[in-house]
Amino acid sequence: MRGGAAANGKLQKTRKKACDILFSNSDKVWRNGSAVRRTVPSRENYTHQWLWDSATCAMGLIHVDPQRAYDEVYSVLSGQWKNGFLPHIIFDPKSTGYFPGPKVWKTEKYSPKGVLTSGITQPPLVGFSLWYLYQNAPNKKGVIEFLKSVLPQVKKYHDFLKTYRDSEDSGLLTIVHPWEGGCDNSPLWDSPLTQIELDDVLDRLKKLVDSKRSDLKIGNHNHRPQSADYHRYIYLVDLFKKTAWNQEKMVKISPFAVKDVLFNSIWCMSNEALANCFRMLNQPKEAKKYEGLAKQTRKALMGLWSKKEKLFLDVDVSHGRNKPILENTIGTFAPLLAKAVTLDQLPSLITRLTDPTQYWTDSPAPTTAVNSPKFDKERYWRGPTWPITNFFLIYGLQNYIKYPYVKKVHDTLLKKTLTMIADRGFSEYFSPFKTNGAGNSGRLGFGNFSWTAAIFIALYEK
Ligand code: GLC
Repeated sequence: MRGGAAANGKLQKTRKKACDILFSNSDKVWRNGSAVRRTVPSRENYTHQWLWDSATCAMGLIHVDPQRAYDEVYSVLSGQWKNGFLPHIIFDPKSTGYFPGPKVWKTEKYSPKGVLTSGITQPPLVGFSLWYLYQNAPNKKGVIEFLKSVLPQVKKYHDFLKTYRDSEDSGLLTIVHPWEGGCDNSPLWDSPLTQIELDDVLDRLKKLVDSKRSDLKIGNHNHRPQSADYHRYIYLVDLFKKTAWNQEKMVKISPFAVKDVLFNSIWCMSNEALANCFRMLNQPKEAKKYEGLAKQTRKALMGLWSKKEKLFLDVDVSHGRNKPILENTIGTFAPLLAKAVTLDQLPSLITRLTDPTQYWTDSPAPTTAVNSPKFDKERYWRGPTWPITNFFLIYGLQNYIKYPYVKKVHDTLLKKTLTMIADRGFSEYFSPFKTNGAGNSGRLGFGNFSWTAAIFIALYEK
């Protein structure tokens, strides 16, 4: 992305700062006798390794230092359980401040020896990341060697997800915790979470949460999830722990079970990416298998379109339910990533995106529509603009770029995302408005955030 000379100078300087952040947030860990580097999301609060953050960091790092991009993937795959599961967090045993830490999850009987992990997953972005690394690696021989060494594990993860999270073969995976959806505190989870009665959450758990929550100790309370939500999050963790992290049981008994549009759009595009990798490696049988999964999910996503609302809607499927979740959030644009938007639907999605009363704010695009009663300009996933969801929007629009009206929005959003980061810094998330009255230029959450830096680099190179 290039502009005028002054703008270019600023963007170049910001790219340099982004590299510095990725460098200072990097740790060395030992895996199977070798040292690999991994990136923590931020030195504030998030001092462990997160699954979809690392998949994103790798996409930034490939433009800077390919070996570090490969290390990012190696280290995130080192948390893989025998059944193929990839946890959303791999803990750094030396860093004990974060809640909920390994003692709450108690997964050590199932995780690889010596690697402490959580027991839930996150959006399956790593497949997409692999194909991105291939496309952007300067040395094709090197990246092919890398792909050959990691594809078996990523394939195993996809097979795990298909087996346990779509046992009914609907094409749509089920998530069992809001944190699996990645947009942890989205209004999408409000209705499904009401299945958990607060009275059913043991006092012991409530006390634990209230005394240990690490985000509140460092971060601004007004930006973070509310206490009742946190009690429910930990209730679910405790429930799953009691099943001994048995996936079949978890999906069956969880009061929170959702077919989420964003998670499944990423699933679709990662399957397509795996198919591309296998095709490039001349493995047509494998390519066909993952292309088939992508097609099945694309078709199922199309079925989530509500003609009446003109939104793609999540579905609450807990305990046999089949209830669409009526919320207007950024997730409604995710099917663009999966090429699941028809040409009839496209204009209405673009109109929604460019509507200033919904998503076209000073710094688009807020994670919840401005005119939604749930919109909150500062609170975690309920309004602020997140670089990761802008990245998905930009890549989703890219799939329809041959239509000039889509190209225009794509180019503007790309420019606005880069400027937002260049002007305001590498925050976790941002106020969608120019000023939020807090005198902090709308910088929200924790600072010097790794995937904000990685996304800046990837978009700058686009
Ligand atoms: C928050 C986000 C989640 C992210 C993590 C680390 O929990 O909601 O999506 O992976 O932070 O950045």
